[in-house]
Amino acid sequence: MKTAVRKQMTIDPLVMDLLNNQIAMEMKASASYLAMASWCDQRELLNSKEFFYKQAEEEREHAMKIFTFINDNGGAAISPNVQNVNNEFESLRGIYETSLEMEISVTQSIFKIFKSARKEDDFVTEVFLQWFITEQAEEEDTFRSIIDIFDLMEGMPLKMIDERLPKE
Ligand code: FEO
Repeated sequence: MKTAVRKQMTIDPLVMDLLNNQIAMEMKASASYLAMASWCDQRELLNSKEFFYKQAEEEREHAMKIFTFINDNGGAAISPNVQNVNNEFESLRGIYETSLEMEISVTQSIFKIFKSARKEDDFVTEVFLQWFITEQAEEEDTFRSIIDIFDLMEGMPLKMIDERLPKE
């Protein structure tokens, strides 16, 4: 009885390592968005500034979702070392393009963990990751739509473009 009551680790150990890497990836994304928010803030690009501050918070929330998931399922979540955050940017459009590339990498990484969970019969993680798959599709879509706005408004002043961009 004692064994049944005690918290068992329900996540596959290999999958847990991948989830811990994912925490690091989400926290790196959070730090990168914070750097982008600062760049926009310094140039008074108000919508983009707000957008990236919110993105930074959201990515931290994603990391925390995974963090608590690991510990709630008897695993060991690891607080990551976030290093090499880029704070130098060439242009606002470049920032959004870099963001889209970053989101594509995150999506690929989530797919990799999902596949691994499936292979290892880790059903708990598979169900947990479904939310992230939907979220990533939405995030990629948001960035693609923003880059479309840049294409449509090519040649217009930067502040005018910024005013057409979403704040969240
Ligand atoms: Fe949590 Fe946008 O990756």
